[in-house]
This record gives sequence, C-alpha cells and structure tokens, in this order.
Amino acid sequence: MSDDDFRAGVISAAEELVRERLGADATGHDWFHADRVRRTALRIAREEGADLFVVELTALLHDIADYKFSGSEEAGPQLAQAWLIGKNVDAETAEAVAHIIRHLSYKGAGVADVPLSLEGQCVQDADRLDAIGAIGVGRAFAYGGWDKRLMHDPDVPPTMHADVAAYRAAKGTTVNHFYEKLLLLKDRINTKAGARIAEHRHQVLSDFLDEFLAEWDAKD
Ligand code: ADP
Ligand code: NI
Repeated sequence: MSDDDFRAGVISAAEELVRERLGADATGHDWFHADRVRRTALRIAREEGADLFVVELTALLHDIADYKFSGSEEAGPQLAQAWLIGKNVDAETAEAVAHIIRHLSYKGAGVADVPLSLEGQCVQDADRLDAIGAIGVGRAFAYGGWDKRLMHDPDVPPTMHADVAAYRAAKGTTVNHFYEKLLLLKDRINTKAGARIAEHRHQVLSDFLDEFLAEWDAKD
C-alpha cells in the first residue's frame, strides 16, 4: 500500500469514529463542528506549509472526549493516541496529535496558551474560528440553551475569569460568554492565515452583540 493510500484509509476511519462518537451532539461538538474545523485547519495549513496529515487527523479527533463532558483532561488525548496506534500510525505522529489535543482548548481570559507546533497552531486557530463569526454566535446560543442558561442578564456586569477553575465553574449567561471568551479569541490566533479570517468573523460577532444589546434596550 502506498503512503497516500495508508493515510487516506486512516482519515476515513477517523471520520467514521468521530461520526459515531459525536453524531448529533447538541452542545456544539457535533460531527459537523469536527468537519468544519478540519476544512478550516487544512485551508490554514496549506498557506502556512504545515504537515497536512497531522493537521487533518488532529482536527477530526480534537473533541472526541471533551473535558466538559468526560470530566477528564486526559480522556481525549489518550483515546486519540491509542486509537492511532491501533491503526498502525507511527508512534511519533500519534504522540504529536495527542499533545496538540491535550493543549488545544481555551482555559480562561487570565490563562496563557501552551505554545504549540505549527500543526497545532493551525488546528487551534480553526477551532477558535468556529467559535466566532455567524457560526460562533449560533453555537454559543445552542450551547446556552442546552445548558439552560439565560441569554442575557443586564443586572450582572460582564465577568472575566483569571484561572481555569473559575472559568469552568462559572454559570454565566450566553452574552457573558462573549466577554469571557469569544471577543478575546481574535488576539489568541497563532497564524497569519488564521488572523485574516478572524478579523471578519470578529467583526460579525461584535456587530451582533452591539445589535443584540441595542434591541434589548429598545434603542435600535
Ligand atoms: P471548542 O470545542 O470550540 O474549543 P468549547 O468546548 O469551549 O469550544 O465550546 C463549544 C461551543 O460551545 C463553542 O462554540 C463555545 O463558544 C460554546 N460554549 C462553551 N461554553 C459556553 C458558555 N458558557 N456559554 C455559551 N456558549 C458556550
Ligand atoms: Ni472544538
């Protein structure tokens, strides 16, 4: 079997695994999130000259056992690594993918990101880009509804979180999620290609919020 055929086989097996595990999840981690992140990550990776196999695999597998639902930081990276080894992917690639998944997620306004490989930077950018723009607005309200959160509470000023424990324990409104995370993401994009896409998506997010708050106060 050629290298290309081997890789294509691993990618389609990964697609199947992700469809099976995430399916129609209502929290923003459905199959289509993984697929969008894969497509955006590859778009960035081509421009940045990153390894496309590592990028595509990591993007597909990055949410197979999200912390919020598994309660463990290690479940996702370990599952991905063991699954890749089981598919005869070399140990170095499996480790590289697991390392990126382990350090991918945003952990609060006051928590610095762990520096990632170029491949990790492409996937992290794509994951963050899927949380902003029109799709980001949609995902935030879908998540908020799933978690029974209020859309907005004008009596509570915007709250940011200095550490990961406070960030994860917070039960704020969906509008607060814009302040604690979504509006901050454009300054946490790693690559030039990602930053270019983020600029427009950030504007969409910020225009949406202005409009939402104007309507809330009947000032539109
Ligand atoms: P990702 O998988 O993109 O790294 P998360 O796991 O943090 O992001 O969240 C998945 C989706 O749910 C994102 O679009 C995110 O904005 C949204 N989300 C997460 N936490 C909240 C929240 N507290 N309120 C509203 N939306 C949220
Ligand atoms: Ni994600």
